[in-house]
Amino acid sequence: MKIAVLTSGGDSPGMNSIIFGIFSACQTYKVELYGVIGGYDGLIDDKFVRIEFSSLDGKFNQGGSLLKCGRSARFLKPTYFKKAIKNLKSNDIDTLIIIGGDGTIKGAIALRDAGIKVIGIPGTIDNDLNFSYTIGFDTAMNNIVNAVDNIMDCLSAFSYGSVIKIMGRNCTSLIESVAKALHTEYIITNPNLDLDVLAKKIKKQHDNQHLPPVVLVLEDVIDCVKLAEIFTEKTGFQWRSHILGYIQRGGKPSAFDRRYGYSVGSTAVNYILKNQTGFALGMDNDCLVKKNFEETIIVNKIS
Ligand code: F6P
Repeated sequence: MKIAVLTSGGDSPGMNSIIFGIFSACQTYKVELYGVIGGYDGLIDDKFVRIEFSSLDGKFNQGGSLLKCGRSARFLKPTYFKKAIKNLKSNDIDTLIIIGGDGTIKGAIALRDAGIKVIGIPGTIDNDLNFSYTIGFDTAMNNIVNAVDNIMDCLSAFSYGSVIKIMGRNCTSLIESVAKALHTEYIITNPNLDLDVLAKKIKKQHDNQHLPPVVLVLEDVIDCVKLAEIFTEKTGFQWRSHILGYIQRGGKPSAFDRRYGYSVGSTAVNYILKNQTGFALGMDNDCLVKKNFEETIIVNKIS
């Protein structure tokens, strides 16, 4: 039997741990494992490589993805999609495991409907699927909280306010969790928020306490540099803007993401050996559960 695995969408810390879990189970059951390089584009371009221990050595606890990720516009086009299917068949791949977020799962639906055996594993810092947890989320939260703690040291020294851009695309899960961990009530996830009202509230609280105000902004909702200027004008004290970028998504996965990643990877192989495919395998309330792909997609993400 031959299994292939790919990572798609944005990389997520823990993807390599999932691949390691898949690899270990494949070793145990003498299954050949192939990696597809660069997500769905790799399927189209026939980029299959055999995964051996040497591919993983020193990498399984690193962030990023050793298989590289990709957001494939071509995969959505019938000509390229057919090419991808043809390559899966000509490489004799029995089952494909895909790791990623909601765009990735949509790709899995198309593959399943084309008769390909596929299992999806949620791996995204966005936590944008209908599971209680997606791999990489814990690491990203920790990365952000640590970065904001550092920023707060400098803000406190000057009593500046700060506007911080947080990833998550159109999903508020990451920004809301981080806000709770940082004990800040100021988050902007809606471009129509009344900034006058918010600035007044912040000013009043700032006058009565020593902690600098931190406003978290969901990416692309408002320009953070402009927002810092607006707040400086409206509150009467200085503001700085911070775009954390890949500091949020990079770095070594947390112990939780490694442990859970490994376990979901090896469990996926166990299902394949029982000839069970066509679902996403993820965590709900501390348990690994199977869900139909359609059930995992959240339609309206901005709260
Ligand atoms: O999906 C993960 C994510 O980090 C989102 O939070 C963000 O919107 C997007 O990827 C950024 O994409 P890129 O790394 O391609 O700029």
